[in-house]
Amino acid sequence: MGCRGLGVDGPDRRTIELLNEDLFGEHDAIVYYLTHAWTVARRYGRDILDIAYDEMRHFKWLAHAIAQMGGVPDLKTPSVAPVTTLQAALQKDVDAEIHAIDQYRDHMEVISRAPLRGLLERIVVDEQAHLRHFQELLDSTHGEPDEVDRPAAEVGGVAAHLQNSVGQEYQQMMAYLMKSFVEDHGRRMGLDMEERSIDEMRHMGWIAKQMGVMGLQPQFPPVDAEAAIAPGEQREQALYQDVRAWAVDALPTLVPTIDRILAQEQYHATLQP
Ligand SMILES: [Fe+2]
Ligand SMILES: [Fe+2]
Ligand SMILES: [Fe+2]
Repeated sequence: MGCRGLGVDGPDRRTIELLNEDLFGEHDAIVYYLTHAWTVARRYGRDILDIAYDEMRHFKWLAHAIAQMGGVPDLKTPSVAPVTTLQAALQKDVDAEIHAIDQYRDHMEVISRAPLRGLLERIVVDEQAHLRHFQELLDSTHGEPDEVDRPAAEVGGVAAHLQNSVGQEYQQMMAYLMKSFVEDHGRRMGLDMEERSIDEMRHMGWIAKQMGVMGLQPQFPPVDAEAAIAPGEQREQALYQDVRAWAVDALPTLVPTIDRILAQEQYHATLQP
């Protein structure tokens, strides 16, 4: 469909087209990952859903960026080819992340201005983590195919009803999303406060989970909502540099996670308080 932006010309029009390609890539990843998590890759369902939630946030940020530039988010439906084995699904997921990283890098050659460039860089940091994670899952399958449940014959009639329900829910979901992107659009480009809070929640979770593995129980300090956020982000970066220096020798497997957190905090520091 390309750019349906009204009255948008020149470089902005091209940028909207590229962002819509990225939006479609996210949409494609979401429906593939969900399909894999629900079917042949159920044993890794939780991990794959976590990655799909990241893609949903990317999708939302891109759609609002497109709306902000006067474009219309292109919500065309990706078609999901049948996947028959766990290994085939994970290989497809690895390939999808490699493709996404390449595409974002290509688009960043064209989209060089702030704040869009920072948003795309922020997304690529996630895609790199996804690629590592999918590769680990693929390596841990040891090459054995996963068994696939085949429906019994008597399911046939019910299946049509279930499929109708899924189709209906998908249609409704996308219709509400389109309204929120276009009619209710009131976002600034990039991450709003709620989105930044979600980033911090995830950072907390990644580190707290590591504490749990080490036999430690995380504690929650009293909330000080008056504390300035921007100096807090500087403190956070300094804190993680210390943790990183420790982890390089003591716990190298934690280093990619710390680097991901640091990259996200650096992006936060570029956003308006
Ligand atoms: Fe993504
Ligand atoms: Fe990804
Ligand atoms: Fe953080």
